[in-house]
Amino acid sequence: MLDKKIIDLVNHQVNKEMYSAYLYLSMANYYAEKNLEGFAHWFTLQAKEEYEHAEKFMNYIHDNGEQVILEAIEAPKSDYADPIEPLKVTVEHEKYVTDLINQIVRVAHDLCDYRTLNFLSWFINEQAEEEKTANDLLARYEIFVDGKKNLYLFDQEMKSRV
Ligand code: FEO
Repeated sequence: MLDKKIIDLVNHQVNKEMYSAYLYLSMANYYAEKNLEGFAHWFTLQAKEEYEHAEKFMNYIHDNGEQVILEAIEAPKSDYADPIEPLKVTVEHEKYVTDLINQIVRVAHDLCDYRTLNFLSWFINEQAEEEKTANDLLARYEIFVDGKKNLYLFDQEMKSRV
């Protein structure tokens, strides 16, 4: 049986993962509208991944016989100053999500909730990966994209994500 504090935090995390999906969809739309199909593809897949994270948290609540409470999803911004801005926002957003996961870990630790700690270990690893991917993407953009031609080539490369 899960403590109410954990149930509330996990339910809240469902909302944050859904917001992440929304945020990345807003970026996918921005790039699609700029004819940057590779970036649009990449962020569409990222949004799907975030939805899968939300599903994992919902399944955890159900597997423990508790109720999922969905909250309203905040609207993300829908326009960006230039093609690099979403990449910068992504880096900051993933750090924020890591903090949220760590917060649940802290509470689970205080409650000696080893089941939840075990469940969260997947997300701890996933966040390390998500932060690295976001940082690498931004760093590579900063190094290689110094004009429209390079942006085009980078966009082509972004299409290869599966
Ligand atoms: Fe579900 Fe990108 O964190």
